[in-house]
Amino acid sequence: MNHSPFHPDNESAYQQWRRQKLAQVPASVEQLIVEVKDLKQPAAAEISAIAERCGRSNMAVYATHGDVDKQALMTFAACFGLKRLDRNEGADDVGITALTVSDDAGWRKTYIPYTNRAISWHTDGYYNTLEQQIRGLVLHCERAAEEGGENALMDHELAWLHLRDINPDYIRALMQPDVMMIPANEVDDKIVRPDRTGPVFSIDQHGYLHMRYTARQRNILWKDDVLTQEAVAALQELLNSESAWIYRATLQPGQGLICNNVLHDRTGFSDSEQHRRLLYRLRFYDRMKSVA
Ligand SMILES: [Fe+2]
Repeated sequence: MNHSPFHPDNESAYQQWRRQKLAQVPASVEQLIVEVKDLKQPAAAEISAIAERCGRSNMAVYATHGDVDKQALMTFAACFGLKRLDRNEGADDVGITALTVSDDAGWRKTYIPYTNRAISWHTDGYYNTLEQQIRGLVLHCERAAEEGGENALMDHELAWLHLRDINPDYIRALMQPDVMMIPANEVDDKIVRPDRTGPVFSIDQHGYLHMRYTARQRNILWKDDVLTQEAVAALQELLNSESAWIYRATLQPGQGLICNNVLHDRTGFSDSEQHRRLLYRLRFYDRMKSVA
């Protein structure tokens, strides 16, 4: 882990990684798109094209035209080492979540992902335990909305790079194990999830960077020190900017995002009878396999 460029004290590894990283940032979201003929049997060239993009920017957008079912999505994800699904509430019995505007009057009504409202910047599963962090994510579009539902995407390594360049102490602040706390979720006086405390940035056992973040203002407690406050403000400023590192895309039917849980948001949308947005979400405890 000490050899990782993401270790805040590792100046020479950082500088070397930084040069390489900046030299290969995709100029536009189009460069992230890879056509895949059959998700159940992706060709070797399709797999390596996706892996190459993920190696550069932790994400790719695949586009397919054939029939896609849940099994195909799992088979496809497994080609990249994404196998252990997180079974969050709302997921089906294998762990796939259908994100669509919910008509039922149950708990989904109170969760923004099941509404047509905008969702601010976040990485998925920031409220999970540290042992069950979401490292890989697939978001497959079955049907697009009549209007809206655009995702902004940003490689979390670039957010890290930006903050480190401003002040390496921002990184140290955001790596504190108690920097971000999500208070318990209580429903009808019952605790359905206890408090979750953890870092924003962490380094996994292989030296890769993981990010746990939400831009929401309510129901989140940031550590009350000056550096943390400054770091969080600098991050928000970046995410609210017109940075060329932010890609914007509205997934079309047959398209999907496959990524190492990069930063993303969603604009609000409106459905029509013929265009009722439906996305399948697969959250994994695995990170995508890297290519040499
Ligand atoms: Fe998300």
